[in-house]
Amino acid sequence: MTERITSGKQQEEDVTLDTTLRPKRLDDFVGQAKIKDNVRITVAAAQKRGEALDHHLLYGPPGLGKTTLAHIIAHEMGVNIRLTSGPAIERAGDLAAILTNLQREDVLFIDEIHRLPRAAEEILYPAMEDFALDIILGKGPGARSVRLSVPPFTLIGATTRYALLSPPLRDRFGAVYRLDFYQHEDIAGLVRRNAALLDIVIEDKGAQEIARRARGTPRVANRLLRRVRDYAQVMADGVITEKVAQEALSRLEIDELGLDEVDHKVLRTIIDKFDGGPVGIETIAASISEEADTIMDVYEPYLMQLGFLQRTPRGRIATRHAYEHLGLPPKERPESPQGKLWE
Ligand SMILES: Nc1ncnc2c1ncn2[C@@H]1O[C@H](COP(=O)(O)OP(=O)(O)OP(=O)(O)O)[C@@H](O)[C@H]1O
Ligand SMILES: [Mg+2]
Repeated sequence: MTERITSGKQQEEDVTLDTTLRPKRLDDFVGQAKIKDNVRITVAAAQKRGEALDHHLLYGPPGLGKTTLAHIIAHEMGVNIRLTSGPAIERAGDLAAILTNLQREDVLFIDEIHRLPRAAEEILYPAMEDFALDIILGKGPGARSVRLSVPPFTLIGATTRYALLSPPLRDRFGAVYRLDFYQHEDIAGLVRRNAALLDIVIEDKGAQEIARRARGTPRVANRLLRRVRDYAQVMADGVITEKVAQEALSRLEIDELGLDEVDHKVLRTIIDKFDGGPVGIETIAASISEEADTIMDVYEPYLMQLGFLQRTPRGRIATRHAYEHLGLPPKERPESPQGKLWE
């Protein structure tokens, strides 16, 4: 798959940028006001009691700050963070080893927690609930179970796919936060702040323009900022004005709402080939040669946020707004008994 500049997923070019620009303190984490308030309170309460913080589950589309927030929580608690991920843990024993090596109150961050193998997940249940590990010794009728204790710790799980998490795992998190796309003003503020950090001269309207096309996603905003800076240095005098930002972003084929070629393909497929839908995600994926998972993780959330796409039990539907954005005459739909299908 080609890497899209507007994808929230981490790409190779982001790794350094993600680390340099990753805020370390809660005060520097833009937006998500409700989550920040809650985190502040739970952190203060846990510190007051001298206990490990509750287990946290963070979910939402790629690039919205799950990993960043996990680091910040550990930093605010003043504890160490151990990093691993669902796919990195192959056997239950891998996880047991990590758990027994934790220090008191440490944060264990498991990225892509929906990909944790089943057996490892079962190790987690008593670990999360009772800070205990149940180890089976021996085999067959002579086997017996021994309970070992693990230090009180905080699990922070992150996932882009909440629905794939098993209910017993979900239930064991004390705090569950859904990260949403950011408001335009938050992203514009982030662009201005990061431009200053990177010594980039940017006019306010230039920052606004980048923010408009960043899909409400900090990682995309940072990536666009860097691309526009390159353009400004080569094609203009290095200053990012509104016009420079517009030219640079049009050249990258990102439209004024941040949609790129693939978003357009998704919408056009639904509209042209399937008469606006409903059509199943697998069918859309096959028609444009993308993976259904990628469409669900990366493209669909933002198209739904814009109100261009609707999920129905019978499949995806392109809305009137999608037709308008593509400059197509809207399709007449019969009114459904529950009201208009369109709104
Ligand atoms: N609220 C925020 N304030 C400032 N910068 C942010 C914020 N959220 C994310 N970022 C920036 O965006 C980058 C990507 O965020 P992060 O890696 O935390 O996303 P993620 O949700 O973990 O994505 P993935 O699902 O791909 O793991 C960070 O390195 C950071 O620079
Ligand atoms: Mg992450």
